Amino acid sequence: MSCRVILGAQWGDEGKGKIVDLLSAEADVVARYQGGPNAGHTVVLDGRTFVLHLIPSGILRPGVRCYIGNGVVVDPEALRSERERLVRQEVDVDGRLFVSGSAHLILPDHRVIEQHADSCATTARIGTTGRGIGPAYTDKAGRVGLRVTDLMDPGIRRERVEQLRDRTLRLAGPGAPVEPLSDVLARCERDAEMLRPMMVNVSAEIDAALRSRKRVLLEGAQGTHLDLDHGTYPYVTSSSAVAGGACTGVGIGPTKITEVIGVAKAYATRVGHGPFPSELPPEIAGRLREEGNEYGATTGRPRRCGWFDVVALRHAVRVNGMTQLVITKLDVLDEFEEIEAVTSYQLGGNRLSEMPESLGDLERAKPVTERFKGWKAPTSGARQWEDLPREARRYLDRLEELAGAPIRLVSVGSGRDENVRREATPRETQPIPR
Ligand code: GDP
Ligand code: IMO
Ligand code: MG
Repeated sequence: MSCRVILGAQWGDEGKGKIVDLLSAEADVVARYQGGPNAGHTVVLDGRTFVLHLIPSGILRPGVRCYIGNGVVVDPEALRSERERLVRQEVDVDGRLFVSGSAHLILPDHRVIEQHADSCATTARIGTTGRGIGPAYTDKAGRVGLRVTDLMDPGIRRERVEQLRDRTLRLAGPGAPVEPLSDVLARCERDAEMLRPMMVNVSAEIDAALRSRKRVLLEGAQGTHLDLDHGTYPYVTSSSAVAGGACTGVGIGPTKITEVIGVAKAYATRVGHGPFPSELPPEIAGRLREEGNEYGATTGRPRRCGWFDVVALRHAVRVNGMTQLVITKLDVLDEFEEIEAVTSYQLGGNRLSEMPESLGDLERAKPVTERFKGWKAPTSGARQWEDLPREARRYLDRLEELAGAPIRLVSVGSGRDENVRREATPRETQPIPR
């Protein structure tokens, strides 16, 4: 029995999809625990690209059972088109994909509310993905949301949809560009038919899997610094991307988790607004963006780029209780003469080793970096630790030392086999005591 959480250690887009696909080879069950179609998880298989938004990346491994947990917000339209795209790409989905009855739904009005909020001068312009995520989670927390199980009851769904329409018109004004209510209700009826055969009690199913000694993998979306509680609030998403969110997001207790695997790129990126202390000026950022193809998998937006931020990573190691770290996209740094990593922040006369909680302080914090000699050699062919250039190993060793979590896997290309596995070192943290 194992229950591994795989999550983003930075600001999202760390390569979680690729790592979940890779580790799904050692899993029987894969479940997404939070977020919604704001996520874009890319997996490249034999040169074919799959982008998963709601469906767990484990779906690409035949035989793996996939769940969408109660912590996820489900847009049925997005789910339908994602399923159809996978079927066109010859992926077997039916009978292997299940959705929690307690997951909340994103309705078309949620997107209208979000567009309105974004155009409001008084609202912090977060630069969201525009998928209705914030308004759907707002309704969930406000206890007026519509869950998958509620959708099956025509009375409840009509009542909730009508109440939501009232709120939409109150918030966005009577001229808001809403779909006719009858169309929304007809759409809900179709969605109920689609979701009915997939609806299960995910908590009970995962518990049963663990009891029969199956291997479970819990897939996070976004990243630690986009987490509602532990990210750079208010420039965050509306869910719990951290390891604690994995427990509430599928309905298991923390004692069941056996490993927490944080995924971080060998540098850093961020999409949307908000503080990003290690952000680079356009010239070097542009080089990282082109080498790393740093454009959003969901919105196509260019990602902001910066050096690896160890201060931010230590925060992620702590709030997640990370037991190991995966570094991705090392190959993107192959041609750099010199690489830097942010090791502390300077704020006025103070040197900080922790991320400040105040947004203002975080915005004012100046990065202090350590420099590394580049390796100027291709790494994509490396499969063993010793295959990596000496300077690359030195860089990774130093990140590991500063981060306080062992690096057990390094990704050196988008392909499934482009990885360097590393045996446990004496420095490795002890497994969680049972
Ligand atoms: P996710 O949201 O965390 O799953 O990450 P995304 O899929 O949004 O972005 C990661 C991108 O990097 C995808 O296009 C991956 O195919 C790609 N990728 C993942 N690992 C590597 C790697 O080691 N090297 C390179 N060059 N690309 C990678
Ligand atoms: P994956 O799972 C990167 C960002 C948005 C915005 C903020 C809030 O692919 O790593 P939201 O639409 O969630 O209300 O937007 O969060 N964001 C992501 N950035 N990767 C993601 O997902 C993201 N999902 C949301 O850009 O700044
Ligand atoms: Mg992504």
